[in-house]
Amino acid sequence: MRLVKSITETKKIIKLEKNKGKIIGFVPTMGYLHKGHLSLVHIARRKSEFLVVSIFVNPTQFSPDEDLKKYPRDMKRDLKSLKQEGTDLVFYPSVKQIYPSDYKTYVQIKDLSRLLCGVSRPHHFRGVTTVVLKLFNIIKPDIAVFGQKDYQQAVIIKRMVKDLCLNIKILLGKIIREKDGLAMSSRNIYLSTQQRENATVLYQSLKWVKWSFNDGLTNPKKAIKKIRVMIKQNSGKVDYIVAVNKNTLEPVKRLKKGTLIALAAYFGKTRLIDNTIL
Ligand code: PAJ
Repeated sequence: MRLVKSITETKKIIKLEKNKGKIIGFVPTMGYLHKGHLSLVHIARRKSEFLVVSIFVNPTQFSPDEDLKKYPRDMKRDLKSLKQEGTDLVFYPSVKQIYPSDYKTYVQIKDLSRLLCGVSRPHHFRGVTTVVLKLFNIIKPDIAVFGQKDYQQAVIIKRMVKDLCLNIKILLGKIIREKDGLAMSSRNIYLSTQQRENATVLYQSLKWVKWSFNDGLTNPKKAIKKIRVMIKQNSGKVDYIVAVNKNTLEPVKRLKKGTLIALAAYFGKTRLIDNTIL
């Protein structure tokens, strides 16, 4: 496994592999890897012949009041896991390399980045698309794998790939959960024991919606109201709960097969997201 910080060096290595005709697979991450990340690495490993994983805590997707400074990091552990998964190259650039002092270009996806998480995090997706496009340009992958956990992010990346005619196949990996259902997240370590316990309500509420839908519930307002109550009862502060079309992210009038139920809620200061598709 090669560890490379430099953009030029990474491009050089990948060019050589591409010249050999190898399929390049890519998984972008912000590190502090858990089984959710590693499940994506596993998918990419199976679908490619040269596997690149990036570790970069991207400052432009955090707003000034968010957790950029205290975002968890453990490079040693990450590298050990990535080696075990058969990664060929880990790209871990510095902030200066990605955003030199004269940096001026940003990528923004209209509409989609204003909905759901975009309401409380208005600059977040502009940072995500900017860094992902830059990483795509450096790594030039044939396939890239993203998690359903960040469903809106995946929709936005797919849109960018289509709109900008990038020749990259985007694959989606399912949400990997803890034993009690909480979606794995690097941010779960911020939770106190009590908050960690309360946070399982997110998965419980999504399970409830699925069950109720199968039992005949079609009114999105009713579903959202009930989820809101469940989260509040467990000391969570709801950011949003939506029932939307899984491609356009626009609200649906009736729940149907394929409807995306997505939510975000705070437990203490920690904001968690989760979703399910009916
Ligand atoms: P990060 O939060 O590190 O996540 C990297 C990838 O892992 C994303 O595609 C995310 O959806 C996926 N992931 C996270 N938790 C998961 C889980 N429990 N199960 C399955 N997949 C999971 O998302 C980002 O980084 C950044 O925005 C990035 C795309 C790297 C751009 O900076």
